[in-house]
Amino acid sequence: MTRPRHLITLADWSPENIESVIRLARNLKTQPSLQENQLAGKTLLQIFEKPSLRTRLSFEAGMTRMGGHAIFYSLRDSVFGSKESIEDTARASSRFVDCIMARLFEHENIVRLAQAATVPVINGLTDHSHPCQILADLVTVEEALGRLRGVRLAFLGDCHNNVTHSLLTGCSKMGVSISLGCPSGSDYEPQPEILAAAKKWALESESDVRVFQDPLQAVEGADVIYTDTWMSYQIPENQKNRRIEIFRPYQVTSDLMSRANPGAIFMHCLPAQRGYEQTAEVIDGPASIVFDQAENRLWAQNALLLNLLDRTPEEPIASKG
Ligand code: CP
Ligand code: NVA
Repeated sequence: MTRPRHLITLADWSPENIESVIRLARNLKTQPSLQENQLAGKTLLQIFEKPSLRTRLSFEAGMTRMGGHAIFYSLRDSVFGSKESIEDTARASSRFVDCIMARLFEHENIVRLAQAATVPVINGLTDHSHPCQILADLVTVEEALGRLRGVRLAFLGDCHNNVTHSLLTGCSKMGVSISLGCPSGSDYEPQPEILAAAKKWALESESDVRVFQDPLQAVEGADVIYTDTWMSYQIPENQKNRRIEIFRPYQVTSDLMSRANPGAIFMHCLPAQRGYEQTAEVIDGPASIVFDQAENRLWAQNALLLNLLDRTPEEPIASKG
């Protein structure tokens, strides 16, 4: 199996590559000693153009646990893309650090960063996708339900969204069927090319991809109900009231949860706003596994870093489930 050089989108990763990160993440979680000192002397540069809690903390804490170091670099303090080209930033940074993780607005900019860098580059979220989140989500679903193949995940709300896009890609590659529930219109539906590619991968993994306007139809037969903010980082505040009106029918409520399969779990990448994309009763209720999901960012990303930096420890056989 050839290892990918970067993680820009999961579209570039084979199901086997994704599977190997999931396996290692689960091994690290049960045997954290496997990761000790694996990245001693290694440095991760973290470039942030948007806010973050989980991504920053999980990468920083992850590097510490593996004996390495992480640098936080906010683009508020920089000349990225203006006085200094993205390519020169990539070339210069590659002389100091072993890996670059970037959270940017424009997806094209992370592609340019990766093309010019001589070290691995990780997409820590762009307007287009959020692959690190979905690696952690796949770990979380498998951990909670004991399997990926045959699971149905329903995503409700803003489907023209980085998290939805990466869910479409990651789930369809790994045999998780996905039902989307969203308003009609190109501002709310997934990018057509991402949807079309997901439908093709789903055929290969014997899963399916469905899109509904009716939230009740979307949750039918679902084992996982997933939602995300209606106000992603790049959305201007003046669109808030209009978007609340548009997305309100897709709010995840206890009633909606009860229409899914018995035992269905609730997931959210966080940050979440109670009373908007889900009620407090749902996110604070027994079906919610959102903080396990948040924790799994660390295990999935540690596994990812070890893969990209060619430091995969000897893997004991992982027991599924
Ligand atoms: N889920 C996630 O990426 O969270 P942050 O925006 O806090 O990093
Ligand atoms: N869709 C959200 C995800 C946050 C982790 C955003 O881009 O703000």
